[in-house]
Amino acid sequence: MATVTFDHVYKRYGEVTAVSDLSLEIQDGEFMVLVGPSGCGKTTSLRMIAGLEEITEGSLRIGDRVVNDVAPKDRDIAMVFQSYALYPHMTVRDNLAFGLKLRKVPKAEQEKRINEAAGILQLEKLLERKPKELSGGQRQRVALGRAIVREPAVFLMDEPLSNLDAKLRVQTRAEIARLHQRLGTTMVYVTHDQVEAMTMGQRISVMSMGLLQQVGSPQDLYDHPKNKFVAGFIGSPAMNFIDVPVGSGDLTIGGFSFPVPSRYAESIKGAGRTVTAGFRPEHLDLGDMAGPTGTVTGKADVVEYLGNEELLHVSVGEQEVVAIVDSSHRVRPGDIVNLRLPANKLHLFNAETGDALVATGE
Ligand SMILES: Nc1ncnc2c1ncn2[C@@H]1O[C@H](COP(=O)(O)OP(=O)(O)O)[C@@H](O)[C@H]1O
Ligand SMILES: [Mg+2]
Repeated sequence: MATVTFDHVYKRYGEVTAVSDLSLEIQDGEFMVLVGPSGCGKTTSLRMIAGLEEITEGSLRIGDRVVNDVAPKDRDIAMVFQSYALYPHMTVRDNLAFGLKLRKVPKAEQEKRINEAAGILQLEKLLERKPKELSGGQRQRVALGRAIVREPAVFLMDEPLSNLDAKLRVQTRAEIARLHQRLGTTMVYVTHDQVEAMTMGQRISVMSMGLLQQVGSPQDLYDHPKNKFVAGFIGSPAMNFIDVPVGSGDLTIGGFSFPVPSRYAESIKGAGRTVTAGFRPEHLDLGDMAGPTGTVTGKADVVEYLGNEELLHVSVGEQEVVAIVDSSHRVRPGDIVNLRLPANKLHLFNAETGDALVATGE
């Protein structure tokens, strides 16, 4: 078991800075997810932990040891790749044994670990098969098994579910979460999928363009995004944003009308002439609400029926706002809707920098 610590780490490829000034402490036994859009530096960060990429600047520690110059095989890590990277000519058993043979683990110990991993991952009946005789989900379990038998101090996983279909992805997601609960080993898990990040991570690191944006628990990121990027990336459908002029009274533009929540009374003064209001589709609702609210009024252009809810695309002045409301409202395309939003669900951002305005008193 081990911690993983990035200390002002940079990775440059010539002119390209893939990872910039990354400082991050991953706790012993923690399930940490690195999430962000394609190209933001997730894989590069993971490969630096694995020792597959040289670190341009800064230092990386596994436990107490600086590993910048330690060879991958001496780092006590195991990595699961998106492409399962199984040996096609070997049976499942031999694929699981391969890394152990290389490390000269005694035969009896090899068998014990393989049987344990096969038990955990329900591979017992598949041990004599070749990879081509397995489904995608089974291959992925073998790839996980190969990492498990190594009994590493840290597991690294790079988008391990992206080749699975939607249903299998949900199952395997739960399997990996269970695996972590059972083994208690530090895991660093890379994905571009915020749903995976939210459901699996104990903490999540959100990256954009080589820069770490925010680290926190799923709920932290959802409730208190530090900037517009994190606010828009976490949550589905994405948070709505509307730029609103800061006048003397309410925040009002088009069909958007909102009293300035008291927690922003101070910070809005220094925020310039315009602020960006952010609000999540699932917090809007039709009809009355208790407590202070604002309103968003517009025309429902498109109504997507989802069963117990419906998703509304509403034009509000020049902008489109997405709302999720109870499907019993039976909104029809063309209806004018009066959406309400509780005041404590409104986020405000600096319109220039995208930074969240400081909220006080809550
Ligand atoms: N070997 C390489 N040579 C040059 N640029 C690279 C190399 N590997 C990655 N990059 C660049 O570094 C950035 C981050 O890549 P990567 O870590 O793979 O992103 P992610 O995994 O988040 O999609 C991208 O701009 C990518 O093009
Ligand atoms: Mg990647």
